[in-house]
Amino acid sequence: MRAAIFASGNGSNFEAIAKSNELKNAGLEIEVLVCDQPDAHVIQRAQKYHIPVLVVKLSDYPNRGLYEQAIIEKLIPLKIEYIFLAGYMRVVTPVLLGKYPKRIINIHPSLLPKFSGLEAIERAFASGDEVTGVTIHYIDEGVDTGPIIKQNKVVRLKNDTVDSLAQRIHQTEHQMYRQVILDLLNKNNGVDKK
Ligand code: GRF
Repeated sequence: MRAAIFASGNGSNFEAIAKSNELKNAGLEIEVLVCDQPDAHVIQRAQKYHIPVLVVKLSDYPNRGLYEQAIIEKLIPLKIEYIFLAGYMRVVTPVLLGKYPKRIINIHPSLLPKFSGLEAIERAFASGDEVTGVTIHYIDEGVDTGPIIKQNKVVRLKNDTVDSLAQRIHQTEHQMYRQVILDLLNKNNGVDKK
């Protein structure tokens, strides 16, 4: 499977996917990291794994549609089949969605539909909810909406701080994203594990 990963920031999910030999052996080929922030740490992570980086800044285009069209032009020759969003801080428009229908997957650090949008972990912590979690879903035109593929719970511990909770959520994210991609690879390889 030829994939592109889109990210804007730290890139711990990107790295969890990029370093996985299990995914590589199952056929995952990360052709490119697409990043909209020239200084994002995820770029260094991509370089470490020798994954090509495409930096495309929204501010270089008159609107989001043309920005996405510029990205599509670069993805076409790479024959990208799936796009994995991993901390990509932009709402995807019908331009990209139309080109890759049901082929763009996102990860979000809450049990959607609760706490969609920014600062989900902080808001879940502040709410006092005893259980939060992680959602992986296909995207549509909304913010953190679209058909859910997998949700895992993360329990808030008595002495948790927002940081310790966030740390466990990120660990859960890394395992989950790898598993969802592995399931997708196996499905596409005709291996039905269920
Ligand atoms: C993750 O919490 C992800 O769920 C959200 O953005 C964060 C990205 O973290 N969409 P990282 O850049 O992968 O470390």
